[in-house]
Amino acid sequence: MNNKEIGKKLKDLREEMKLSVAQVAYAVDESIEEVELWENGELSCYGDAKRKLEFLYNHIRQHLEGLEKINEANYCDFFNYPECVSVPDDFPLWLKAHGFFCAPASIGHHSKQPGGLYAHSLAVANELKKYTRKLGLQWFDKDSAWRVGMFHDLCKTDDYILSWSEGSWSWNKNQTLHGHGDKSVIMLQQHIELTEEEVACIRYHMGAFTDKSEWEYYGNAIERFPNVLYTHTADMHASRILGV
Ligand SMILES: [Fe+2]
Ligand SMILES: [Fe+2]
Repeated sequence: MNNKEIGKKLKDLREEMKLSVAQVAYAVDESIEEVELWENGELSCYGDAKRKLEFLYNHIRQHLEGLEKINEANYCDFFNYPECVSVPDDFPLWLKAHGFFCAPASIGHHSKQPGGLYAHSLAVANELKKYTRKLGLQWFDKDSAWRVGMFHDLCKTDDYILSWSEGSWSWNKNQTLHGHGDKSVIMLQQHIELTEEEVACIRYHMGAFTDKSEWEYYGNAIERFPNVLYTHTADMHASRILGV
């Protein structure tokens, strides 16, 4: 498929989904002018634009492949939680366009099915809220337990891509940022102002499942923000005990 054909399909699908060019531009971190160029088939010849277009096309195309139901159901479910009012209005749409509601949580481990990332994130958020209620955890912000759980693995929206040639999710080899907790923090801070506690919880949510050189900092983070330990526990509980 050449760029003109991709652009036309993209435009047709965008219109079918009643999305504006501005909404698409926001979703893929591009200018409106750039998206208009893409739709006209005048795609820049550099890899990142191509990757973004492929991802966007795949995201929009998902309703043709049965994934849209999962995507839409999880997107709607997101608004069921009272804490969601603490995120900017445009952020849920960004999440949707970047695969947060339909991506897997892993390629070969827990929650590898489409929608697994949202299921896992929700499970960690629920665990953290449960610990907060039952153990009396104190947070600097009342919505932090939900926010930390829901977005601790935000990096995965960039880690996995749906290949339109193979129809399966695979590791994105064209990433700009690498890392995990740190990458989630960087991505999330583009949209939400985080407390120091939230930064520490997300940054160190892998606990000691990291390079030994990080253990000292992980220990420091727990001493300063005990909820770092509970975040790691919630993540382990969701993935290793609940299998989500
Ligand atoms: Fe993680
Ligand atoms: Fe996780």
